[in-house]
Amino acid sequence: MTHAKPRTLEDDIGELSPWFHNLHLPDGTETAPDHSLGDFPGFKWREIAGCIPEDLTGWSALDIGCNAGFYSFELARRGARVLGIDCDSHYLDQANWAAGQYALQDLVEFRQMQVYDLARVKGKFDLVLFMGVFYHLRYPMLALDIVAQKTAGMMLFQTITMPGREVAGQADFWINERDALLGVGWPKMAFIEERFAGDPTNWWIANHAGVEAMLRSAGLKVAGYPGDEIYLCHPDPAHPSCMTTWNRSEFLSATNAGE
Ligand SMILES: C[S@@+](CC[C@H](N)C(=O)[O-])C[C@H]1O[C@@H](n2cnc3c(N)ncnc32)[C@H](O)[C@@H]1O
Repeated sequence: MTHAKPRTLEDDIGELSPWFHNLHLPDGTETAPDHSLGDFPGFKWREIAGCIPEDLTGWSALDIGCNAGFYSFELARRGARVLGIDCDSHYLDQANWAAGQYALQDLVEFRQMQVYDLARVKGKFDLVLFMGVFYHLRYPMLALDIVAQKTAGMMLFQTITMPGREVAGQADFWINERDALLGVGWPKMAFIEERFAGDPTNWWIANHAGVEAMLRSAGLKVAGYPGDEIYLCHPDPAHPSCMTTWNRSEFLSATNAGE
């Protein structure tokens, strides 16, 4: 008589691979111990952890491009009720499996969604993580306008950027004075037609000035830089996005959101 070998954690991890998030499971097993970026995103979490309140009881949180849910689980451990969204069901399978491992299913919900679908989700979130997604989007400013409207309290935004931290003031120029646009510190985005770092899903890489300008333009105020290429933002009621005023019709058309 043959006995089936009991299923192990390693079997599950292997079946759910490949992993982009190195989750540390309760028994110490890691899902991607040989990650090319190191203990990812654990080292990124340690950069932002200090600017998020220790006690998130009663907070609603949104984790955009949640992948296997590393950040969602950290926020849930602090007491937040978390919605993690991702367009890729492969990663959501990992996230749902891991929620069971951590017994966090009651606090975390994962949904397969495009970031743009958030335009049709009711309500706002106290805390929004928008990390590692922006440069993967073909319509980044639309996404940022949508996400800014979903942010009631704070947003942590991370993207890859062009070299340099210069920020130039943006004066208004005559139509033929185009040289100004080439100046160091003018907000810019580089378009990636084929692939960047071997990845065909990378579309846009902004410079630091461009990131700040877009965040401001979406109605957000940058309050700090907790880590490399990470921006801590809050809604800025003194400078709301123009999509809430004169440009609202374009936003509504692009999102099919209606009023
Ligand atoms: C580079 S990973 C970042 C994962 C995680 N946020 C982090 O910082 O570690 C990008 C994630 O965003 C998801 N993603 C890419 N485009 C998306 C979109 N349009 N809507 C929702 N999720 C998207 C991918 O499936 C992937 O899980």
